[in-house]
Amino acid sequence: MQIAKTFDDINSLKKENPGRIAFVPTMGALHKGHLSLIQLAKNHGDQVIVSIFVNPTQFAPNEDFDSYPRDIEKDAKMLSSEGVNILFIPTNEVIYPNGYNSEIKAKEAAKGLETDFRPHFFDGVVNVVNRLFSAVKPDIAIFGEKDFQQLQVIREMVETLNLPIEIIGAPIARDEYGLALSSRNTYLSKDELKIARTLNVVLRNTAITKDYETAKSRLLSNGFDKVDYIKQRWGRVLGAAWVGGTRLIDNVEITDF
Ligand code: PAJ
Repeated sequence: MQIAKTFDDINSLKKENPGRIAFVPTMGALHKGHLSLIQLAKNHGDQVIVSIFVNPTQFAPNEDFDSYPRDIEKDAKMLSSEGVNILFIPTNEVIYPNGYNSEIKAKEAAKGLETDFRPHFFDGVVNVVNRLFSAVKPDIAIFGEKDFQQLQVIREMVETLNLPIEIIGAPIARDEYGLALSSRNTYLSKDELKIARTLNVVLRNTAITKDYETAKSRLLSNGFDKVDYIKQRWGRVLGAAWVGGTRLIDNVEITDF
C-alpha cells in the first residue's frame, strides 16, 4: 500500500497504477463497516484508494472533533492487509489551504433529519467530499447506507455539480445484535452498549407499525436519554438517539407486506 499526503502525491501514484479508481472516504477508526465498503470498492474498481481525514468543518464547536478516535497506525495495517492500493492522509492545510474559497452548500437532501440537530454538518461533508474528489478524481465512490441521508446528499451533490463519478451505496454492517457498527460505538460503556443494541429493534418494528411516537417512548423506556428524531423518508425509517454522551444513528428499509 502506498501513502499519499498531497494532491501531487495522488497524481503521481495514480500514473503508476492505471485503471478504474474506486474511492472510499473515511474519518478513520476503522471497523468492519468500513472494510465492507473496501470490499465493494475492490469489486468495482482496479485500484482502491481510501482516505482518512477527520474533517473539522463537519463538527460543531460543542461536538467530539478533539476526542474523535484516531489510530492511524492500526488503520493503515488493516487497510494494507485488505489490499488497498493507496491510502490518502491529507493534513488540514492540504484540504483547506489558506485562501480556500470554493465553499459549496448541501441542498434538498440535507433538509430536516440530521440538519435539524446538526445544522453545520452536511455543508462540511459536501465541502470535504468535493475536495477529496478533486484530489482523487475517482471513477467510483462508495458510501455506507448507515449514514443514509449523507449518501443522498452526496448523490445530489454529484448530480448538481455534474461530476463524472458513480456513487455506490453499501449495506449497513451490524454486530450480532443488529447494532450498526460505528467508530463512535467505542464510546459506549457495557451498559450503554446493551441500550444501544435496542435501537435497530425499535426501528425495524416501526418500519412495520409506522408508529413513530411509540417508537420514541420505547427508546426512552429502553434507557436512551434523548431521541432526536424517528422519521420516514426515502422508503426508510431513520432515527437518531443519545445514550449518555453518545449519539447513534441508524435506519431500516420499509418493506410493505
Ligand atoms: P465515517 O464515519 O468514517 O464513515 C466512512 C464511510 O463508512 C461512510 O460512507 C459511512 O456511511 C460508512 N460506514 C460507517 N459505518 C458503517 C456501517 N456500519 N455499515 C456500512 N457503512 C458504514 O461518513 C464519514 O466518515 C464522513 O462524513 C466522510 C464521508 C468521510 C466525510 O468526512
